[in-house]
Amino acid sequence: MKRACVIGWPIEHSRSPIIHGYWLAKYGIDGAYEKEAVAPDALADFLGSLEAKGYVGANVTLPHKEAALAAAQFADEAAVTIGAANTLWLNADGLLHAGNTDAYGFMTNLDAEAPSWNQGLRPVMVLGAGGAARAILFGLLEAGGVAKIYLANRTRSRADALAKVFGPSVEVIDWDKRSEALSACGLLINTTSLGMTGQAPLEIDLAALSAAAVVADIVYIPLETKLVAVARSRGLTAVDGLGMLLHQAVPGFERWFGVRPEVTAELKAHVVATL
Ligand code: ATR
Repeated sequence: MKRACVIGWPIEHSRSPIIHGYWLAKYGIDGAYEKEAVAPDALADFLGSLEAKGYVGANVTLPHKEAALAAAQFADEAAVTIGAANTLWLNADGLLHAGNTDAYGFMTNLDAEAPSWNQGLRPVMVLGAGGAARAILFGLLEAGGVAKIYLANRTRSRADALAKVFGPSVEVIDWDKRSEALSACGLLINTTSLGMTGQAPLEIDLAALSAAAVVADIVYIPLETKLVAVARSRGLTAVDGLGMLLHQAVPGFERWFGVRPEVTAELKAHVVATL
């Protein structure tokens, strides 16, 4: 039996076991996917004994994504550029490999839910400058065809630092200018935690967005954030945050269990029922 896990601190809230458990059952695989609560000072030891613990790999969540990258012997380009890993696997050589599938998850979901997102070749607006923003900037630039990304963050210095990583196509704008700058944009992405249950809503005026623009939120609790609801009420295509979570799980499952799983409406409904 093959076993994988998700490692975090705390870990109780993780939805990954629901996703991977669903696929294990659906594809009739003799495998398991467990939750592992690992404190920060215990991570290196835990990863060093992953094989001894009987695991073929793992997902990594907060606060371990940067440390997991540092602990791995090999890392893919996405993990290196994003500076964080969310997927680990032991190769046949027994060495620990690290990948980051967040950019893949976001872009695959965006392409599926809003295939015309880059049709007008307009600038993209990204709100936020944390780890999620970094993954999404990587994904947008790797996809090609995006000439300009406006980056706005409450703490401007974090946006400035992030923009430096990605070069001149990322232009920082003041947080206070986020609404007016939308007139040029074809895609708005919220990577902040605003709008999440228990947090303040994201205050932004969508009036300047063109009718063909797409709005994407990475927040998925609630599934329909105020941002997504307002975008839909204006007739815009809006993409919720759950799809990214589902798609980012695909590459890890395939590596560990040997089957490329499908993201379906049934899986989404199964996870929504747990939110
Ligand atoms: P992650 O790695 O998940 O992206 P993070 O690094 O904590 O998480 O980033 C959270 C993002 O939400 C940041 O861009 C943060 O802005 P700051 O860099 O100014 O902290 C943003 N954010 C959180 N609360 C906010 C608020 N009340 N108003 C504006 N932005 C907020």
